[in-house]
Amino acid sequence: MDDKILLTIDGRELDAKPGQTILEVAKEAGIYIPTLCYYPGTTNVGACRVCVVEVEGARTLVASCCMPVSPGMVVKTDTERVLDARRLVVELLWASGDHNCLTCESNGNCELQDLVYRLKIEEPRFKIEPPGYEIEDTNSMIQKDMNKCILCGRCVRVCNEIQVNEILDFSMRGSHARVGPAFDADYIDSECYFCGECVDVCPVGALTFKQARFEGRPWDIEKVRTTCTYCGVGCQLDLNVLNGKIVKVTGNSEYGQPNQGSLCVKGRFGMDFVNHPDRLTTPLIRKNGELKEATWDEAYDFISEKFTAIKEKNGADSIAGFSSARCTNEENYLFQKFMRAVIGTNNVDHCARL
Ligand code: FES
Repeated sequence: MDDKILLTIDGRELDAKPGQTILEVAKEAGIYIPTLCYYPGTTNVGACRVCVVEVEGARTLVASCCMPVSPGMVVKTDTERVLDARRLVVELLWASGDHNCLTCESNGNCELQDLVYRLKIEEPRFKIEPPGYEIEDTNSMIQKDMNKCILCGRCVRVCNEIQVNEILDFSMRGSHARVGPAFDADYIDSECYFCGECVDVCPVGALTFKQARFEGRPWDIEKVRTTCTYCGVGCQLDLNVLNGKIVKVTGNSEYGQPNQGSLCVKGRFGMDFVNHPDRLTTPLIRKNGELKEATWDEAYDFISEKFTAIKEKNGADSIAGFSSARCTNEENYLFQKFMRAVIGTNNVDHCARL
């Protein structure tokens, strides 16, 4: 049975699967529709309305992120009517917040800023009236500035639907609406796990990584894909590096499995050790009561000499191996193999059992 839906977007005949939205079909076809509240993998809420498009026969413009396609649909994504509606939305968002790019950490990495530019808006038609919230600066990881929040709700949805931490939600109503933990508590006084997912998905500068502030502009930073070293899951992440220093860690959903761009508190905020001055970068061997730097060859020779001596004197079972949850499965496999086949003991254990 042919379950394809045929429709036209901007004069192009396209086919779609039942249940797909106009936005999804347009994206697949490389047709640009701006979004702010839309975030893949979470509920489509249709909150911001910047993704509006014209659908032939529809009484009003429709939010493409929420509208499922139907057979014979004719969609136009960049008519003057559509662009005017988007401009109005963006101008209202601009006017209702403190979007001062000069001091904003997200300058150059801000979806609202991009839209203002793309829609060629010189200044909003409305009086700029930031709400005047105090900036939350009470923890060492996340800075929260509700004056820049556009209430897209991405942070709320990733917290509840992807991380399932259920910490963030909207409070108050109308122009007083804001996002935060229960009872409007600061992050640090809430049950927040500090996974940082909310910061990663914030399209503006409302939630920013505190340790990254003034450490580098987005266009200077190089993203280096790597595997998290904290456990054996193998989460993929981007180290944001400037001059050899890790400025922050971000997720990247394009990498897919195993973490689909999500990270835990350790993977996200626990990378200070990489550039820490106390970090050991060479093996140390104690000589005459003092630890001295050694090469890896010297260290391996020393270890094998000691193991051989212990084994000869007390037998292989006098040695035990203790591995780590920070290693990969493959490394742990090799470790137990080494203990059994080379040392000759089954005394192998693992820190995750503690
Ligand atoms: Fe569609 Fe916000 S992206 S309404």
